[in-house]
Amino acid sequence: MNVAIDGPAGAGKSTIAKLCAKKMDLIYVDTGAMYRAVALYLLESGIDVNDRSAVAEKCKGAGVDIKYEDGVQNVYLNGTNVTGRLREEAVGNTASVTSAVPEVRAQIFSLQRGLAERGGVIMDGRDIGTVVMPDADVKIYLTASSEVRAKRRVLELEAKGEHPDFEEVKKDIEDRDHRDMTREISPLKQADDAILVDTSEMTIDEVVDKICSLCK
Ligand code: DC
Repeated sequence: MNVAIDGPAGAGKSTIAKLCAKKMDLIYVDTGAMYRAVALYLLESGIDVNDRSAVAEKCKGAGVDIKYEDGVQNVYLNGTNVTGRLREEAVGNTASVTSAVPEVRAQIFSLQRGLAERGGVIMDGRDIGTVVMPDADVKIYLTASSEVRAKRRVLELEAKGEHPDFEEVKKDIEDRDHRDMTREISPLKQADDAILVDTSEMTIDEVVDKICSLCK
């Protein structure tokens, strides 16, 4: 069985997908991490990440690979494990910009398809149900209001000892939504056959139970 979970930033996709993977004995594939690894490479290369032709050319040097170690996805960039460096805000925001470049998507697509073809995956991202696994057995569109997503993000950052400004975090989320939903190639949208799950008023356990029951 393959399960696709799409949705905007901060909807809880990775938390939920990881727990569902455990419960259903599936492999969790975090596709955002692949785009983040390319973004990290581009940031470190010093090019202007808003220059689409420079990104298209430079991204060819980013060799992204995925390995599962103790059941956990590790992302390698040109042979180095970069998993611990991918969650920073700058990397996520850059990934949102550079993932709109067709050459970047083409590079990541074959890695994703290879994993999908092996089967038994729960894959999250923006275009999984629409483009990467249009044949998935179950498709979920996981969302929550930008207000709720920003509140969750603020709590996460505070737990790390940071002092984020709520309005700034909310604006970042809304800007990211706009970029991810309006880009020309593979924009974030609910697949026709995806089930909408709005987590604004749900606990993590409730969401996991709902998705697992939809997979039965
Ligand atoms: O899910 P995330 O926050 O780790 O994703 C980071 C960015 O990568 C996101 O803003 C858009 C891009 N992305 C994408 O274009 N397609 C995917 N399947 C996953 C992520």
